[in-house]
Amino acid sequence: MIQKYVYGTPFNTESVIADIPCAGQSPAYGRISVGQNFCFSYQMGKKDRIYGLGEANRGINKRGYQYTSFCSDDPNHTESKRSLYGAHNFIVICGDNTFGLYFDYPSAITFDIGYSSPDLLTVSCEGTDLTLYVIDGESALDITKQFREIIGRSYIPPKFAFGFGQSRWGYADESDFQKVADGYRNNHIPLDMIYMDIDYMKDYKDFTVDSDKFPDFHAFVEEMKSKKIHLIPIIDAGVKIEKGYDVYEEGCEKGYFCKRADGSDFVGAVWPGRTHFPDMINPEARAWFGQKYERLISEGIDGFWNDMNEPAIFYSDEGLAEVRKALRPYMDDDVEIPNFLLGDKVDALANSPEDYKRFYHNVNGKMIRHDKVHNLYGFNMTRAASEAFEKIAPGKRFLMFSRSSYIGMHRYGGIWMGDNHSWWSHLLLNLKMLPSLNMCGFLYTGADLGGFGSDTTRDLLLRWLALGVFTPLMRNHAALGTREQECYQFEDVEDFRHVIGVRYRLLPYIYSEYLKAALNNDMMFKPLAFEYPDDEMACQVEDQLMLGNEIMIAPVYTQNADGRYVYLPEDMACIRFLPDGTIAKETLHAGHHYIKIALNEVVFFIRSGKCIPVVDAAESVDDIQMDTLQYIGDPEGNYLLYDDKNL
Ligand code: GLC
Repeated sequence: MIQKYVYGTPFNTESVIADIPCAGQSPAYGRISVGQNFCFSYQMGKKDRIYGLGEANRGINKRGYQYTSFCSDDPNHTESKRSLYGAHNFIVICGDNTFGLYFDYPSAITFDIGYSSPDLLTVSCEGTDLTLYVIDGESALDITKQFREIIGRSYIPPKFAFGFGQSRWGYADESDFQKVADGYRNNHIPLDMIYMDIDYMKDYKDFTVDSDKFPDFHAFVEEMKSKKIHLIPIIDAGVKIEKGYDVYEEGCEKGYFCKRADGSDFVGAVWPGRTHFPDMINPEARAWFGQKYERLISEGIDGFWNDMNEPAIFYSDEGLAEVRKALRPYMDDDVEIPNFLLGDKVDALANSPEDYKRFYHNVNGKMIRHDKVHNLYGFNMTRAASEAFEKIAPGKRFLMFSRSSYIGMHRYGGIWMGDNHSWWSHLLLNLKMLPSLNMCGFLYTGADLGGFGSDTTRDLLLRWLALGVFTPLMRNHAALGTREQECYQFEDVEDFRHVIGVRYRLLPYIYSEYLKAALNNDMMFKPLAFEYPDDEMACQVEDQLMLGNEIMIAPVYTQNADGRYVYLPEDMACIRFLPDGTIAKETLHAGHHYIKIALNEVVFFIRSGKCIPVVDAAESVDDIQMDTLQYIGDPEGNYLLYDDKNL
């Protein structure tokens, strides 16, 4: 049962699509105070566990820290960070009372989950206009499914998007892409996509292709397609200010860019230098921006990733002017600069909260200050693209994922987990975010495998791929200046061929489970606690997940480990994909086990009585031979295979 409580006059975020009548102002759980600001407080039971918050830092059980939903471009998400790229305000309290809460509020909102006081949950924000949904149900999973139902069906990408993709910031011209394609194909490592980062564009201008680097882009896209490789270009939020650039000129003319209070177009610097931000929250501007994707679609492109759409701002004209002014008195050689002043002032230029107060959206003729609806920007950029795809090529499924998001965006595309680092801790964080993102409808997701920032190592990449084998978005991506991390750059390339090959062998399972989760408002990845709520030990597990109804995954996430401890809540078959292509099966009893897992093996567990489909390895999704399909696990088990015919 879902109750809706409305406070003040909330902005219509369009995250919830179901029509739910308003139940008043006093929910059955917790206390609400609405005065200068809004605060919900609830006394948690000693053993209550709190799940949710989508793309957020720290544990699967979120208790013990404070998190703020405010979409942030932060490439250094260390454990102390409170905001990441998405804003997903849905939590489930599990314990003395079990219920769900969704705070539909598009500006900064803080979840203090036993941080200020161990047993106190508070959710507070500066504004007082918001909608709260309170969901009662039989279990955390039941509550989640009800929530998913009211926010609408999750995005379903085309099947090729379940293949493996290679990306790197720095690939610039045809020969760079050719090298990657050859590196994979010549080494027989499977590959379906190569991602095009900002350097394919002319001076980082959206919807342009640099013709010096790609003399015949259409022919190049087709050539790659003939090798069964899809090129997936990036699109950034900011539109370069440049005379003669039609997107810029049209946007100015039609008034489709975000405006300052005085009506002039706001300027924020991103990769292209000074840019204007399309007003994604204005439906007309959104339709206009979306239509621009057609240019690349007409060249044969069938997938995109939307970036820098928090929106990230390196600096604004106003911010820069203030810093210049503040530093001017210290410019002479003989003037001492106070400690920290220089670094702090300059650092504070990027993604400054002040800048988010400097521009406005035009929503049905009303000017809304950006910070009040900040968390909706990336959502609506992706919606712009997706709604346009439907007009450009009705019924065709495009690959689309975004960096920033809000609940509701899951209907239009997936997300990747942003700029992580080549750290073992981020491999584990990748795992922990999967179920919370699924709770919020984001099924097509994954992290930059191998790590985006910092230098990766062979073992970290292999271990990360062994988790990536299971994530719908399976992409290796790295930042400019880091060590090259395409799989063929490392020794014993056969290990990479094998591990990625396992993804293709499991593809019928991954794809089926994805479709089932999308079509039934279910989670593809669940914490063990959702499946075994009465097993106290299972409820403690933070480094294993249930995937679909059949399997449990427990990847290795520590350096130099030759395996790991695994908790089995029931008897399970330990399945081992060995590097020689054979599959070993060993039945294990419920309880604790140390499972040895070599760097070139993929291991997971099938629940008793269940089986899963497996095919032979292939070098692209299109090459998968369904007539090689066999079932592994319990020979008596039944498996319901889903495919496009189920759509
Ligand atoms: C941002 C993106 C990253 C991309 C880079 C350059 O940092 O998150 O994936 O490589 O911009 O476009």
